[in-house]
Amino acid sequence: MRFNNILFLLALVVFGCKNQPEEPIEKKELVMAETSEMAQLMNEMYAYNESIKQQIINGKFNNSFPEKFKNIHSAVLTSPSDRDANFESFSKLFLEAQKAVFESPSENLTTNYNAAINACISCHEVKCVGPIPIIKKLLIK
Ligand code: HEC
Repeated sequence: MRFNNILFLLALVVFGCKNQPEEPIEKKELVMAETSEMAQLMNEMYAYNESIKQQIINGKFNNSFPEKFKNIHSAVLTSPSDRDANFESFSKLFLEAQKAVFESPSENLTTNYNAAINACISCHEVKCVGPIPIIKKLLIK
């Protein structure tokens, strides 16, 4: 495992969503043992963007939009009540921004990539502030 991946996993443990109400210890352990479908998708989206970030920096970007990301509209959340009208509009904005990266002329690639990451952050500012510090690491400076 690369050092970066280890850091990422550690960060997840530290920055996981703190939207859950406090629960008794036994139940908490149960919740932490299970990763929701959405959390799993989010981790895949993180890893994917981390890999295309490197490709863009190296000038070797050659990918197509992962259709799987559309599951953001259906994946089961840890807190199903998070899926409200706000969540749906942030999801749409994010998918549009992420798709634009793959349709981008190379001179706009970095700008469009950063716009997609900022769309992750916009939703997180409202829905799940915990992971924002690690999502910011995806931005190309
Ligand atoms: C529409 C809102 C929204 C968008 C867009 C969004 N997220 Fe999330 N994210 C969430 C919510 C809500 C959770 C909590 C999911 C759960 O626990 O079921 C989450 C969880 C996460 C987690 C923690 C997963 C875990 O293991 O607990 C990471 C990391 C993450 N998102 C990264 C990203 C990245 C990277 C992007 C963009 C590529 C992104 N998110 C886009 C709402 C969003």
